[in-house]
Amino acid sequence: MQKVLFLVLAAVLTVTCLQAQPAVPEFAPLPYAFDALEPYIDAKTVEIHYGRHHRAYYDNLLKLASNTTFFERSLQEAFAEIASWPEALRNNAGGHFNHDLFWRVMAPKAGGEPQGKLAEKINATFENFAKFKEEFKKAASGRFGSGWAWLCVDTDGSLFITSTANQDNPLMNVGNRKGTPILCLDVWEHAYYLKYQNQRGNYIDAFWNVVNWPEVASRLDQALAAK
Ligand SMILES: [Fe+2]
Repeated sequence: MQKVLFLVLAAVLTVTCLQAQPAVPEFAPLPYAFDALEPYIDAKTVEIHYGRHHRAYYDNLLKLASNTTFFERSLQEAFAEIASWPEALRNNAGGHFNHDLFWRVMAPKAGGEPQGKLAEKINATFENFAKFKEEFKKAASGRFGSGWAWLCVDTDGSLFITSTANQDNPLMNVGNRKGTPILCLDVWEHAYYLKYQNQRGNYIDAFWNVVNWPEVASRLDQALAAK
């Protein structure tokens, strides 16, 4: 009898511990070498951007979230209520999530044009791929100061382009048009200044050569499946 009680207690404790397990995000390895996106995104920029800028957002996020209940929800869930958290948490949680997505939607020997359902949706929304790129460039170059350009999936499954300031993103409840991001471009100067100086437009044009369209398509599928 005692053994049974002990096993039940152990099971309850295990479940309780698992439920209370904070969803601390990981600082994932860069999925390619620093120089893998050359000549479009230079090795030095990737090294500093990933190893120092992104790392600093991640480390600050962990520090700011410690001794709070922030990680009792996923980052995506936290973004839906981010307006009620301190601004520093918003900036660093966004900084980590946005960069993590950014590294994954790029790849060496990538670029070209999207295929399948993603291509169909882009054509249905923006008429064709060239016009989509024009609209995206407008959002990325028109973002005053620092921020991001995004391709998102709306609640009805359609696509839209938007941009956000600083480290905000379209999952946040801070007044941006909300949606599920499937492609992003960092337009902070730290993302391009070493190679392109103040020529943000040239950096945006070069970005198309490293877009990992299969990854973007897979994120579209996940977003549609979640609706
Ligand atoms: Fe950045």
